[in-house]
Amino acid sequence: MKRKVLLMGASGSGKTSMRSLIFSNNPASSTARLGATIDVEQNHVRFLGDLILNLWDCGGQDAFMDSYLSTQRSTIFQHVGVMIYVFDAETREMNKDLEYYRDCLDGLTQCSPDAAVFLLVHKMDLVREPKSSMFDKKREELQKASGDVHITVFGTSIYDESLYRAWSSIVHTLIPNAAVLSRHLNIFAEACSATEVILFERTTFLVIATSSNSSASPPASSSASASSSSSSSLSPSSSSPSDPHQLDPKRYERTSELIKAFKWSCSRVREEFHCLEMDMYDFTAVLDEMTKNTYVMVVVHDPTIETAAIKMNIRMARRKFE
Ligand code: GTP
Repeated sequence: MKRKVLLMGASGSGKTSMRSLIFSNNPASSTARLGATIDVEQNHVRFLGDLILNLWDCGGQDAFMDSYLSTQRSTIFQHVGVMIYVFDAETREMNKDLEYYRDCLDGLTQCSPDAAVFLLVHKMDLVREPKSSMFDKKREELQKASGDVHITVFGTSIYDESLYRAWSSIVHTLIPNAAVLSRHLNIFAEACSATEVILFERTTFLVIATSSNSSASPPASSSASASSSSSSSLSPSSSSPSDPHQLDPKRYERTSELIKAFKWSCSRVREEFHCLEMDMYDFTAVLDEMTKNTYVMVVVHDPTIETAAIKMNIRMARRKFE
């Protein structure tokens, strides 16, 4: 099953940079060397088993945008599953950006009326004024520009975990059996006496599903300062007052970011990342291969449960998740 994902926005807003971080495991520092994208760069990423993401990174220079909206209109906007439109948080040309965005939204609603629309207010790290109020203002402006179209807005930066939260949420909408996966993870968590079980995609380390014990699916809830999502279909996951372990609401995306950084460090010393075990004072975490496209993380707070038992449970559950 192939799902087309359009990545659009003004030139220099950061589209290719985020693609390079999420899908090619490159560090943020390497993005400064990226040149402008010429026309459209298409990539196929095998995501989960049969699911292939067909990513269209559309160069944002005016001449290209004008051509997408005229001669290439039907090629670009047909059969789209998700459109991600990136806005530079500090742009001085917001009016022009909004004009192009509205035109693209018109093309999309005409050719792919069922496509989901995600808007990223990107480079949030550069924003000086209180980030949350600036983000709220932008979100309102974007909602107004979108009319009746349902949108989901995230504040993102390549320099922190916010990018992983947004992209986990985006790919989550493309996974047809996410609810079934969550149910299986929940059963698996109970069998392991785990506080939480999280399933990651192997290459991107984006969160695919979590055990529902952990108060729902990815990504973590909006935070006041860095970023926020509006009207996301994913329920927020934060530590509830009854949560005895006070789980960090940003734990999913931070894990994605940390593991990606660790994998990059491994590749620099020509080592391959296989699995990870953490035996801490009050919890144990095991990250191991689940299927050929996924990794699973099992977090246990019961000190009587041995790491070897968790690993054996993962091994035995593999067939169920294949
Ligand atoms: P076109 O290919 O011309 O459409 O541009 P693009 O949207 O693909 O932009 P690109 O990814 O090439 O990024 C432009 C510049 O923005 C690069 O120098 C990146 O390092 C920088 N950049 C990308 N994301 C961020 C971010 O989150 N924060 C900051 N501060 N800079 C970023």
